[in-house]
Amino acid sequence: MCGIVGYVGRAEAAPILLDGLRRLEYRGYDSAGVAIVDGDHVETRKCAGRIAGLSKLMAEHPAPGTYGISHTRWATHGKPTDQNAHPHFDESGKLALVHNGVIENYQQIKDALLQEGPHHFTSETDTEVLAHLVGKIYDDSAVGVVDPRRHKALLVEALRTALQQVIGTYGIALVHADIPDFIVGARRGSPLVLGVGKDENFLASDVSAIVAHTRDAVYLNDFDLVAVERDKFEISSLAGERGSHAISKVEFTAEDIKKGDYPHYMLKEIFEQPGSVRDAMRGRLSVEECTAKLGGLNMTPAQLRDVGRVVLTGCGTALHAGMVGEYLIEQLAHIPVEVEYASEFRHRNTPMTTDTLVFAISQSGETADTLGALRESKRKGHRTLGICNNVASTIARESDGGVYMHAGPEIGVAATKSFTSQVVILTLIGLLLGRMRHLSTAEGSSIIAALESLPEKIEQILKMSDQIKEVAKKYVKATGMLFFGRQFNFPIALEAALKLKEITYLYAEGHPSAELKHGVIALVKPELPSVFIAPDDAVFSKNMNNIEQVRARKGPIIAVTTASGAAKLKGIADDIITVPDADDIVMPVLTVIPLQLFAYHLAVALGRDVDKPRNLAKSVTVE
Ligand code: F6R
Repeated sequence: MCGIVGYVGRAEAAPILLDGLRRLEYRGYDSAGVAIVDGDHVETRKCAGRIAGLSKLMAEHPAPGTYGISHTRWATHGKPTDQNAHPHFDESGKLALVHNGVIENYQQIKDALLQEGPHHFTSETDTEVLAHLVGKIYDDSAVGVVDPRRHKALLVEALRTALQQVIGTYGIALVHADIPDFIVGARRGSPLVLGVGKDENFLASDVSAIVAHTRDAVYLNDFDLVAVERDKFEISSLAGERGSHAISKVEFTAEDIKKGDYPHYMLKEIFEQPGSVRDAMRGRLSVEECTAKLGGLNMTPAQLRDVGRVVLTGCGTALHAGMVGEYLIEQLAHIPVEVEYASEFRHRNTPMTTDTLVFAISQSGETADTLGALRESKRKGHRTLGICNNVASTIARESDGGVYMHAGPEIGVAATKSFTSQVVILTLIGLLLGRMRHLSTAEGSSIIAALESLPEKIEQILKMSDQIKEVAKKYVKATGMLFFGRQFNFPIALEAALKLKEITYLYAEGHPSAELKHGVIALVKPELPSVFIAPDDAVFSKNMNNIEQVRARKGPIIAVTTASGAAKLKGIADDIITVPDADDIVMPVLTVIPLQLFAYHLAVALGRDVDKPRNLAKSVTVE
């Protein structure tokens, strides 16, 4: 949700900023811009559209200078136009500011500024109002001050004073033409990380923007301000106290975030799943004790045994993983589980018993709604754990413990490998809680065996990519698609529909198979295929009834099933995708993968921009 990159050093800033923005483009791609200070004035280049457009503009009109800020936008206030692209300037035209987040009270601030004196706003954004506010406070305080060190302190102070008036969220970076080699940043609710280099420093929304230059990072906390120079930085709080933060090593390298030979990140990430699933289990299975070992939960066996209820919360794909988790944990541990949309959970008063354990599930660890849910749960005094991929994220840091996915960076906007890692981790949690209750050693062993067999079975599915591509190509004329599944595979129907919607822009719905006859069947027609996720399990015959109901109404049928199911569906389903047989418990990890591939290949056949689907952004840091 918007990406920020700042650089101060001895190299030309433009290529560093552009390269960083390219790596952050997954956060938003409505417009892009840079502000680079050249001598005593700020040069800005910005335009609607992608970074490629900005690169072209900068090739035609270079902006020299060794420090600057930049931004890639996911529009909130104001349309994605050149005028609304960041950076925005203050009234003097000397202060440039980029912002990720939402200033909720921008209208009041704007009205107050206009009452106090002339302010010319050229955009519809909340950000420009903030730039004017900071600029005005700075200009008022700097009158008559000649000491350049004082100017730096006054600029930090101006930002602090302005932010004390702001209601909303922000990740901010700003520069001022009169203050050389100096960037100020701040965060509240939108991530900001400082990259510490040698004689150069960086600011970014995400380390992937700067990892090619440094792996030393300082993760800012909410209400931190940071003054960044070439050879030093100083962190202080919104209240004005000096802060000290440890420098952490980024756990991945620039190499890890390359696309390699894959045409898209999404395909690369789908193909990484044998490894990412293995990494989600690595060191966490105890074959001797037939259980899972999850030390990161920070809970004693007695505390784990006392858990009486589990709440799983998240958004989008993470929520769907939670829905699979509900089936898993209830089946394995016999503990009641509720899955809550994070956005709903945080604003409604869900009755919570004192023995409720809450898990916030989030790949990025920065999703505003999930973070809000985590904070609300903690505020109420509940132990709240995270299931995150980004180890340095706010959710990972603010939770009472948790389980990291270790899936590696996920760049494709459509989540794939994070989903399977989340499901595997929820299986481990179910196994651990189950083994503390009624699950026998034999049952524990068989779940471990099922989990351990997953990477190889995923490899087998990936080998079918070309075959799935051929199936997908048959449906380029479809007007939409319906997805159905039962039990563990019902959330897979939801997830498959979400994947399809996101990257093909086709209308898609997921439902429990049996719901078909309660209304959805009215949609069935020859142009609207139905996808049934129907392995040959205990509910196969029930799925079969629903398949027949669609067939009777001339709806095309695609089935994802196992070999024995395929034999029974021959001549009934139009297309059959066969996954390896496996225990019901792990089946959702297998059934989702052909459907990720199906959505991917259909999107490519339709000419869609798979890694950057329209209107979307990865890491949704606004509400
Ligand atoms: C779907 C997708 C989104 C995310 C959701 C939560 O492909 O990517 O639905 O799953 O925005 O994101 P995280 O997991 O980062 O909290």
